[in-house]
Amino acid sequence: MEDQVRHPKHVAIIMDGNGRWAKARGLPRTMGHRRGVEAVRQAVRTARELGIEYLTLFAFSSENWKRPQEEVGEILRLLKFFIRRDLAELHREGVRVRVIGERNSLPADIRHLLEEAEELTVDNDRNTLLVAFNYGARDEIARAMRRIAEKLVAGETTVDAVTPELLDAHLDTAGIPDPDLIIRTSGELRLSNFLLWQAAYSEFAFLPCYWPDFDEAIFAETVREYSLRDRRFGGLSHEIAS
Ligand code: IPE
Ligand code: IPE
Ligand code: MG
Repeated sequence: MEDQVRHPKHVAIIMDGNGRWAKARGLPRTMGHRRGVEAVRQAVRTARELGIEYLTLFAFSSENWKRPQEEVGEILRLLKFFIRRDLAELHREGVRVRVIGERNSLPADIRHLLEEAEELTVDNDRNTLLVAFNYGARDEIARAMRRIAEKLVAGETTVDAVTPELLDAHLDTAGIPDPDLIIRTSGELRLSNFLLWQAAYSEFAFLPCYWPDFDEAIFAETVREYSLRDRRFGGLSHEIAS
């Protein structure tokens, strides 16, 4: 029982450090992103083996458009490559794919591919892979607020009904439990606009390795270390309370 309680249901990862991984090898940054895709495949597999029900991967932020056009183009290309190559296998393995982030401003071909991935896998219930693409938490919260405001104006909800639960239900992550554990690779100690609302009681693991080096052993060890933590959610720890 205790084991179950401490096992993370939802792990979210800020996959950072592709550029530095490449630079350290004298390679162009785009090579780091390519290797990053291989690390993604491995992480999805490992999450399944570790019994993690929900895995969220931060693939591209709403702020990443500031990068040179060539790099952005390569990242979009790799997303298409990943979906085309891996979607069928994900579906076979019973993985449901969901995409969070702003979609309307994405190129039409990317938008259609993301929709195709979601539609194909909508009835799968073994694991869920959430892909955060063109995702920014402030943008997500603002979009949720806008939808609630529209309902208020239309008389479909009341001011008193605006609660944390209502906001939750209007976020891109509606229906998905908050992340138990948020991992960031590359040694940076920040959230960079990732899941700001959902991370209220998440545990954090900041790892020194660059994303292309994140492997099964590192993932398993990070989850093991998480399982030893005492999460209190504002209450008292098990030891003190009992
Ligand atoms: C993460 O690696 C991938 C994306 C943000 C798309 P980076 O590209 O940020 O790599 P660093 O942080 O510059 O090393
Ligand atoms: C966060 O990494 C976004 C992704 C991993 C997709 P960044 O590399 O964009 O974050 P900053 O700029 O270092 O904060
Ligand atoms: Mg980075």
